[in-house]
Amino acid sequence: MKTSMKTHYNEELTIKDIDKTVTLAGWVSAVRDLGGIIFVELRDRSGLFQVVADPQINPDVHAVFSKLKDEYVIQITGKITKRPPETYNPALATGEIEIYPTEVHVISEAKLLPFELASDDTKEELRLKYRYLDIRRPQMLNNLKLRHNIVTAIRNYLNSLDFTEVETPILINTTPEGARDFLVPSRVQEGKFFALPQSPQIFKQLLMVGGLEKYYQIAKCFRDEDLRADRQPEFTQVDIEMSFVNQEDIINLTEGLIVEAFKQAGVEVKPPFKRISWQEAMDRFGSDKPDARFGLELFDIGDIMMESTFEPIKETLKNGGIAKAIKIPGIAGYSRKEMDDIRSLAISYGAKGIAWLTFMEDGTVKSPVLKFLTEEQIKQLQERAEAKPGDVVFFVADNPKTTYDVMGRFRLFFGNKLGLIDENSHALLWVVDFPMFEYSQEFDRIMAMHHPFTSPNLEDVDKMKTDPLKVRSVAYDIVYNGTELGGGSVRIHSTEVQKKVFEALGLSEEETQTKFGFMLQAFQYGTPPHAGLAIGLDRLVALLAKQTSIREVIAFPKNSAAKCLMTNAPTFASEEQLMELHLKSTVKHEIKH
Ligand code: AMO
Ligand code: AMP
Repeated sequence: MKTSMKTHYNEELTIKDIDKTVTLAGWVSAVRDLGGIIFVELRDRSGLFQVVADPQINPDVHAVFSKLKDEYVIQITGKITKRPPETYNPALATGEIEIYPTEVHVISEAKLLPFELASDDTKEELRLKYRYLDIRRPQMLNNLKLRHNIVTAIRNYLNSLDFTEVETPILINTTPEGARDFLVPSRVQEGKFFALPQSPQIFKQLLMVGGLEKYYQIAKCFRDEDLRADRQPEFTQVDIEMSFVNQEDIINLTEGLIVEAFKQAGVEVKPPFKRISWQEAMDRFGSDKPDARFGLELFDIGDIMMESTFEPIKETLKNGGIAKAIKIPGIAGYSRKEMDDIRSLAISYGAKGIAWLTFMEDGTVKSPVLKFLTEEQIKQLQERAEAKPGDVVFFVADNPKTTYDVMGRFRLFFGNKLGLIDENSHALLWVVDFPMFEYSQEFDRIMAMHHPFTSPNLEDVDKMKTDPLKVRSVAYDIVYNGTELGGGSVRIHSTEVQKKVFEALGLSEEETQTKFGFMLQAFQYGTPPHAGLAIGLDRLVALLAKQTSIREVIAFPKNSAAKCLMTNAPTFASEEQLMELHLKSTVKHEIKH
């Protein structure tokens, strides 16, 4: 594409363009002065192009080139020539051609950059502070292009199926997704606050009541939660909702979308993806987002331990706990120190203790808990583990949540440590049949595991009052290589069922009315059955770009302290601003003007 300042982007040019006179513009990526001849690598959004100044050929151009520094913005005009074959650069798309310009203009000079663009180990803090420079690095540019291509593919896919993209509001009331809200004070409505959406959940459901039937949105979501590599306070969802559908329809639709998105990264995946129930995922992998690229599956040994004389564990089991084991092959030779480190690791994961049986090469068994087990029990354990000499079987007994969590993390730790994870495999699976509720230790009550608009499995509705934790929901998550990419559910479309769920959650009639009255009311005017899901776009792109943090695929992310290092947001508000908003800060600070 031609602009008024350049005839081509660098990588549009090839050996076929020899003898063409072109004008290129971009940044000086490198200058090499070979004592006379000066080579400049000119960079633009497409890639690099070599331009050369020879004092014998064009002393004026050479004089300008001799003053060029990295990251100057220049424009050159000249004829494309073939490089001498011995100077071909196969690493460059334009590696067989070059230009000896007849004209050069310095458009803008550049200060010395605070870090070297070519370096891969610049501190992230510095990269984020100067993100606009960081984006000049081809890796970042490629990440942003991949993100764009994935979004485009997703839009094309959904548009081809006749979906309508609708923007839902950003200034709303609190959303029922369970994280903390970001609040925005209202100037006009004294003392009142908007909340930023944690997701468009309520609005997309109301669009179904509105008869839209097929909705999507590339939606910004806001959650004030503790940040990690795969979490940002503002992030993007591919948010989808449909009417007159069931779980099967949404799963099929999503699988098609995943195929299209993965294609953009050159990855071919074939639906249907495996499905496992939440319970099976927990039992086999200790996680509701299992990394299915490797084995090391967990197994239950509660029955064997109940027969043992290991009293604390038996007590745990009697009180609703579980005992789970994992076999790690070939590590019987670990030193005492290594085993101690493993014990500390398990304890850092939250275990009260961890025990193991080491099956020695000579056929003997070593274990810190040998005295609690009969020979028969050891044999049973060995058989269940299919343990061979050289293997170690670890086990933990605790409440189910802790046991699953510790063993799940243990499994990942050894999967990585033993190099069992094939970085080039693509394990996509659905986790289905999530429990409707979970018990929250923090609040000492049951909470919706997904959100309160998720439909319970109708077979389990009668357990809602008597045994709520046994109620399954029609919720599903899509998991890729051990990361939750997205999740959704079939929604409740009956006011009666919705009321029962609010009751089970301990919400009073009054609370229900204040929080969700408008929604319950909406559902009384003819509600289609509906279901949907949301995919975390940042996570999807990061994984496809093979990046370990979603910050790498977000143009201007926040750091782990939820701060923008480039703009310094958030900042203090002035007294006048606060007053106008009817607010008073309890934090003392000075405002610099
Ligand atoms: P959920 O809360 O599971 O579901 O979110 C859907 C997906 O959004 C991504 N995600 C995040 N990505 C980056 N940073 C975060 N802080 C963050 N939080 C979530 C994850 C997650 O799988 N309204 C429902 C969807 C529905 O039921 O249709 C929802 O928001 O990839
Ligand atoms: P103790 O008798 O408490 O010294 O424990 C003996 C061994 O059992 C130690 O190696 C502990 O780490 C381990 N252990 C203690 N509690 C548990 C538990 N709940 N699950 C698994 N192993 C445990």
